Amino acid sequence: MAILPIVTGVQDKILRTESKPVKNIDKKIKKLIKDMTDTVIDVDGLGIAAPQVGVNLRIYIARLNHGTRHEMWVPMINPEFLQLGGKREKNEEGCLSIPNKFGDVERRTEVLMRYQDEKGKTHVLQLDSLNARIMQHEMDHLNGTLIADHWKKEPRDG
Ligand code: CO
Repeated sequence: MAILPIVTGVQDKILRTESKPVKNIDKKIKKLIKDMTDTVIDVDGLGIAAPQVGVNLRIYIARLNHGTRHEMWVPMINPEFLQLGGKREKNEEGCLSIPNKFGDVERRTEVLMRYQDEKGKTHVLQLDSLNARIMQHEMDHLNGTLIADHWKKEPRDG
């Protein structure tokens, strides 16, 4: 088990870089996924994206169905939105890379995702509410966007 240091700071260069697609899901990628999962569990987060551990690759781990019996940690490689639908809904978000700040972010309530798992198998998955919000937050990380960019008001300290 390895807990990785989490990159923080709104101006951090790695966090602000667009991440590249994963071409080969090799041993190194599998180890990275394992370590990212250990790390996000350790800090009790809802998700973590590779740039947050200093790697500009299109990978994130999402905590789906949080607070239910069906909670699971799902690694997503090369995720894409096939659809962004539902309503626009504002809710408070925080980020492991911007510690102790919370502010409203408007997101869509339904998403249709396509992504690869660790075996390289492609999945299509429809998600809503908090699960959909996590997808949009983590996808932002892969594109160099942070929640601070969405904040229209000063965040609250938490
Ligand atoms: Co974040």
